[in-house]
Amino acid sequence: MAGKGNTRPLTDARIAVFCSGNGSNFEALVRKNRRSAFPGCIVLMVVDNPRAYAIERARRLGIPVLYVDPSPYENKQAYEKVLYEELRVWKIELILLAGFMRILSPFFVRKYKNRILNIHPSLLPSFKGASAIRDAFEYGVKVTGVTVHIVNEGVDEGPIVLQRALKISEDDNLDSLEARIHRLEHRIYAEAVNIVLSRSWKIVKGRKFVLCD
Ligand code: GAR
Repeated sequence: MAGKGNTRPLTDARIAVFCSGNGSNFEALVRKNRRSAFPGCIVLMVVDNPRAYAIERARRLGIPVLYVDPSPYENKQAYEKVLYEELRVWKIELILLAGFMRILSPFFVRKYKNRILNIHPSLLPSFKGASAIRDAFEYGVKVTGVTVHIVNEGVDEGPIVLQRALKISEDDNLDSLEARIHRLEHRIYAEAVNIVLSRSWKIVKGRKFVLCD
């Protein structure tokens, strides 16, 4: 899966999931991986926050946790260099961001070009950023959704692998909408990972994720 897309299906990929908080997507991904919803194997969880509930989920699921404390490093790149070296030791080939609330710099994104996916709780390019569900709800849109995209050097703007829409009903409040979005995320992230790992695809004009098989 180098360069513009994947030149061969990467069915034996070693996968790391990056989290900062609750980790519900991480848990859904691990459970689906164990039921063979997508190939490859989740072998590691990376956290930047030692209080993340995701750590408890990883412990219960028997997935090793790598915590690299960002605070001692003088800048983002110094931190990411250490992270990258650790990932090399683990032979990680695909990274799944799942509520990882740290923006990766171009240095790191280039090291894993086209090998980092992110899930975002809106129909991108609408409602980028860290509070997308609330922003969409407060804006009053009637349709929102979930996006899985390849991470590029921009923020929440890489090529889109999969999107699913969800209607906001008159009965929804922020809590109910959040719960519905999360249920949808737990379904489609695994679907998107399956596409990325088992299909042939390319990125057209740096923008469009296109299947070739
Ligand atoms: C998810 O809704 C994910 O889409 C969102 O954080 C939540 C993490 O939940 N990510 C972003 O907003 C990224 N911009 P989880 O920790 O329970 O998986």
